[in-house]
Amino acid sequence: DAGEHDSFMHKEMLEQPARAEAVLRGRLDERFGTGHLGGLNLDARELRAIRRVKILGCGSAYYVGEMGASLIEELARVPADAEPASEFRYRNPIIEPDTLYVAVSQSGETIDTLLAVQEVRRKGGRVIGLVNVVGSAIAREVDGGIYLHAGPEVAVASTKALTNMYLAFAMLAIQLGRVRDLSIADGRRLIAGLTALPGQIEQVLATEPQLALVAHRLAEAESLFFVGRVRGFPVAREGAQKFKEISYRHAEAYQTSELKHGPLALISPQVPTVAIVPDDELVERNVAALEQIAARGGPLVVVTHEGVDLGDAAAKADRIDVPRSERELDPILLTIPLQVLAYHAALSLGHDIDKPRNLAKSVTVE
Ligand code: BG6
Repeated sequence: DAGEHDSFMHKEMLEQPARAEAVLRGRLDERFGTGHLGGLNLDARELRAIRRVKILGCGSAYYVGEMGASLIEELARVPADAEPASEFRYRNPIIEPDTLYVAVSQSGETIDTLLAVQEVRRKGGRVIGLVNVVGSAIAREVDGGIYLHAGPEVAVASTKALTNMYLAFAMLAIQLGRVRDLSIADGRRLIAGLTALPGQIEQVLATEPQLALVAHRLAEAESLFFVGRVRGFPVAREGAQKFKEISYRHAEAYQTSELKHGPLALISPQVPTVAIVPDDELVERNVAALEQIAARGGPLVVVTHEGVDLGDAAAKADRIDVPRSERELDPILLTIPLQVLAYHAALSLGHDIDKPRNLAKSVTVE
């Protein structure tokens, strides 16, 4: 049972620092600034020959796949994208011999992801798994992979498995990068950044009381936006997904840059926006967008880094600061407060946190 916690989701959120350490353990090579992922069953020459990465997963596993694709493009400069596994096989996908297919699944039993794996393998493609449950159907069908070591996850809304998926992608991206043009200095910098993350996740989780207050306000809205750009956009998508899954509020993710091309028409005092604003190369543009939202009376929750100047929007915004990490690794620390917001919104609305209506932990029939 969930012990002292009111729900498995809460227990699993708080387990994240320890489980994050577990997925990193023994897989970081500090000397050469690279990942050490033996289970991939790919040697340096084979890693070097990969020309594209296609990531397949469903729900949160798909959104974290988008974060993974951007890590791989950024660190290894290998073209990468994520696609819902549920769509993949229905469009007669082109399977290329020099593409690495990556199936992402907590349970390892999601039928859509399993059938996508089988489609790739039937056409002779190489597929690895980022899977939590050891010996699960997907784990048995792949050519290799990275076990997530998140421990059993019971709540439908994935937290610790998702975090470990992200960390597994980061190690994979570093390893793919280090057989290409990622320097040893950058490799070491990123490995140090990864090593710091479990403690930083703990710091974010320690802000739960403040996040709960913000969540109670958000829970009153019928409809809200989650916005972010580039690295921050999959964070916004995952945040919206969690929020709608367990609070049953309409939550829509948008690229911050696209607001002015449509959804700004919906911004009003009744429609809050949760904005992801890391201190990166886009911070000034993101802050300008916040001002447009504030000018229309839209309530703002800004997930950002300490020291970021939110300008005129600051007066109206609830601000959530997360610790700085290596810039490329920012998405995971930005994601953690969104889990806590969704959890406290659902709690204040009196919903069943672990078993949201109409949803199952793993969908094993088509
Ligand atoms: C969905 C669950 O049906 O399956 C989501 O409701 C989950 O929470 C998704 O992210 C994928 O599950 P898995 O086990 O393949 O990671």
